[in-house]
Amino acid sequence: MRTFQTSPGMRDILPPESGRWSSFVDVFRMTVSSAGYGQVIAPLLEDIGVFQRVGEATDVVTKEMYDFVDKGDRHVALRPEQTASICRAFVQHRPATPWKVWYTGPNFRYEKPQRGRYRQFDQVGIEVLGPDDPDVDVEVIALGWDFLRALGLHKVTLLVNTLGESSERGAFVTSLEAYLRSRKSELSEESVATLERNPLRVLDSKREQDQTIIEGAPTIMEFLGEKSISHFARVRYGLDLLEVPYRIDNRLVRGLDYYRQTTFEFAGGTLESAQNALGGGGRYDSLVEDLGGPATPGIGFAIGLDRTLLACDDEGVFPGENLDIDVFIVDTAGGSEALRLTNQLRREGFRIDRAFDNRSMKSQMKAADRSGAKYAVILGEDEIRSGTVLLKSLRSDEGQQSVPSGDLAARLREKIT
Ligand code: HAM
Repeated sequence: MRTFQTSPGMRDILPPESGRWSSFVDVFRMTVSSAGYGQVIAPLLEDIGVFQRVGEATDVVTKEMYDFVDKGDRHVALRPEQTASICRAFVQHRPATPWKVWYTGPNFRYEKPQRGRYRQFDQVGIEVLGPDDPDVDVEVIALGWDFLRALGLHKVTLLVNTLGESSERGAFVTSLEAYLRSRKSELSEESVATLERNPLRVLDSKREQDQTIIEGAPTIMEFLGEKSISHFARVRYGLDLLEVPYRIDNRLVRGLDYYRQTTFEFAGGTLESAQNALGGGGRYDSLVEDLGGPATPGIGFAIGLDRTLLACDDEGVFPGENLDIDVFIVDTAGGSEALRLTNQLRREGFRIDRAFDNRSMKSQMKAADRSGAKYAVILGEDEIRSGTVLLKSLRSDEGQQSVPSGDLAARLREKIT
């Protein structure tokens, strides 16, 4: 008989780890909804054209897209990220600006799977469409920072850069390309290939051989005009004011082509360097226009769940909310009382579980222990006859006591809350 496993780079997230994932999203929701962001739930699948706008020269678009022609002859793709979908939704629905939204959910990139790099991965993120104000950049970056802090992470470095306006970025890339071509024979084979596709990405090379060449490369700072300089200065001022620590990194280039002006990355302290970006983002002032909408500035970030939870493991933080049940019902009198009592106590707000299949007392007590419950409620023939239950602590040496059935809920409430 043929059996099946998950596809490469795709994972089942099982309990209790899945509970930790929901807690992660809960912490994010709390952080951003208290700053006025509303959730957008966009489809996982869009016309491929939506994603092609994130950059014709990027690996995400040229090599990693999960695309296919559907039964209606439409060329569609599973989303590799959500910023483009949010901008498509903005153009489609024309909400009032500033439009401050957040999102979560899976994305798909056909990458070579390894620790921290998967073909299906989850993100949380925010986007703000409308304002051009650098104080929005500060709000967005600070929310990302505060969220990572709320998880308990301390070994995260915030890297900040600017890529200037389109024309400045363009002039910089032209000059960078000319410089890299003049040193082509010294570059690593991989960087020579990258140079042909996307010269900016050569700055991202971690290879030893490329480092001195990268150090001598022109930087964006030489190409910035008055407006970009003051935008970036105000962003730095705001981060200082909010006491968000950061490092300016003029070599910071991000994997997507739409970035203009402020760009940033949250680098984890522990994963291997290629996977150490827990999240990142920046301004993308022409993306909405590229998708057929009115000229609308935008900024946002996305943080990867998979990678950030690995960083939490490495730092020993964020175990997630404890979702263990409160009480396990053990019934050795046929099961009807367990059926009734579990339902009654659940309706009263307790977290309750029980055994099935008429197991022996010993096996039910084992299950109670494994369940993580704090108490077992034991129902035998004697208890049912006398209208009582036995309440037994599973986590302390309180022992067990007989409690009238009618008093059970009140007694549990005292003990559990
Ligand atoms: P990105 O840098 O491509 O940006 O992805 C953001 C985060 O998603 C990464 O830092 C990483 O944690 C996670 N991630 C990306 N690819 C993978 C993968 N193959 N496996 C596991 N995790 C992954 C964006 O997606 C932009 N949309 C961010 C943005 C929002 N820019 C402006 N607004």
